[in-house]
Amino acid sequence: MALINEKLRKKAWANAIAKPAQEFPLTPLPVISGTIPPGLRGTLYRNGPGRLERGGIHVGHWFDGDGAILGVHFNTPPYQGGDRGGATAVYRYVQTDGYKEETAAGKLLYGNYGMTAPGAFWNRWLKPIKNVANTSVLALPDKLLALWEGDHPYALDLQTLETKGSDNLGGLDKGLPYSAHPSVDLHTKEIFNFGVSPGANAVLNLFKSDWTGKIVQKAKFTLNGFPAIHDFVLAGPYLVFFAPAVRVNVFPILAGISTYSECLQWQPQVGTQILIFNRQTLSLVSRGETEPWFQWHFANGYVDPNGEVIVDIARYQDFQTNQFLQEVAFGETHTPAKSTLTRVRINPQTGAVTNIQQILDRHCEFPSVPPENVGQASRYTYLSISQEGTDISQEILNGIACYDHKTETLTEADLGENRYPSEPIYVTDADNPEQAWILTVVYDGNCDRSQVWVFDAHRLSEEPVCKLELPSVIPHSFHGTWKGV
Ligand SMILES: [Fe+2]
Repeated sequence: MALINEKLRKKAWANAIAKPAQEFPLTPLPVISGTIPPGLRGTLYRNGPGRLERGGIHVGHWFDGDGAILGVHFNTPPYQGGDRGGATAVYRYVQTDGYKEETAAGKLLYGNYGMTAPGAFWNRWLKPIKNVANTSVLALPDKLLALWEGDHPYALDLQTLETKGSDNLGGLDKGLPYSAHPSVDLHTKEIFNFGVSPGANAVLNLFKSDWTGKIVQKAKFTLNGFPAIHDFVLAGPYLVFFAPAVRVNVFPILAGISTYSECLQWQPQVGTQILIFNRQTLSLVSRGETEPWFQWHFANGYVDPNGEVIVDIARYQDFQTNQFLQEVAFGETHTPAKSTLTRVRINPQTGAVTNIQQILDRHCEFPSVPPENVGQASRYTYLSISQEGTDISQEILNGIACYDHKTETLTEADLGENRYPSEPIYVTDADNPEQAWILTVVYDGNCDRSQVWVFDAHRLSEEPVCKLELPSVIPHSFHGTWKGV
């Protein structure tokens, strides 16, 4: 009876993360409907927490789960059915040192973002937390990086997702973080990223890599306090950071008394700090301050014809989102945390914010633009969204959409009830540059299955052109990427 009540109380999304996900080897995927576009050639990679429990102990926050990567190869070897293409998928946990140690022990041993290490206090004192490698992926020519913002990335085999080991990109000092939000300029083939070194006044480390991922340029910038910085944006000749009004109180974390999440404090009085760097020299151009908000993610940035920097973000009024995301880990949420697509205009010479405009009054996350438009004006922004009428205190994101900045209209995909798509990934067709596709991994709570759906990027409101069945449930994931052949 208690079990039935629990099932009735929980929303359909909760089933996808109720038990540890099962890995599977390279497996041909059955087509449920439609056909795979011939010009869709390459691999979709996604990363997210695969397991939230071990040995009867539950993690403290959704961000604590061990990273597991899904790879879906489209029309690329290994072919099924002769040389006619098709799709194969593989799903693997990242074999981090901590994952292997905990697997061998059969229990959780380490603390993380939302949990202290299990056991007595002396077990937690100055103990490192586990690199869970669960946040995003960066596809390089000869390896896939599993990214987590607190440490080095892990390198994996692009085809099999076998873990090769921790990777310093030829230039990361030991322990220096490499964030989960690199920004790739497809035109110059440069890769920018950052990592925040903890401290009373934390250090923002800036990195520029070549196309292979090798770090070729570095810079350091000392921040005011220790702000929680998750993402940044490329905007024409600039790298733009918004240090939100959240500060980390680092000492209870080092002492093992409190979790990192518990030590993140909403401090509206400090406002949002604007930092603009020159992307060539990685030196500071200007800094400013504006009203407080929190953002996890940027959509895009560019410089308009007047020389102003334009930055689009998914903006929250406060930091309640962290509480909501903690609740997700337990399959039941009650804290509303709405973010809206918001445009910020900045004078890059002074760092002064000249205008803040809400573009879309709908709860949304994971905004992005076509990869070739990163750092430049983009007519379209793709995003995850809550369908109209959704109770956002109890439901996770249940839609994807495209916002047209020219016509100021939103086109939404209709996924029906109890279906939860991952962040939309934009792919330009390999045969026709005018054609593009949106890929999303959908958890269907009606039948407890996961599928890959392919939409026409310019016809999101129409039926997907193809749906593929995955061998097992893929838990809700954070970020992904596409690597064309
Ligand atoms: Fe993120």
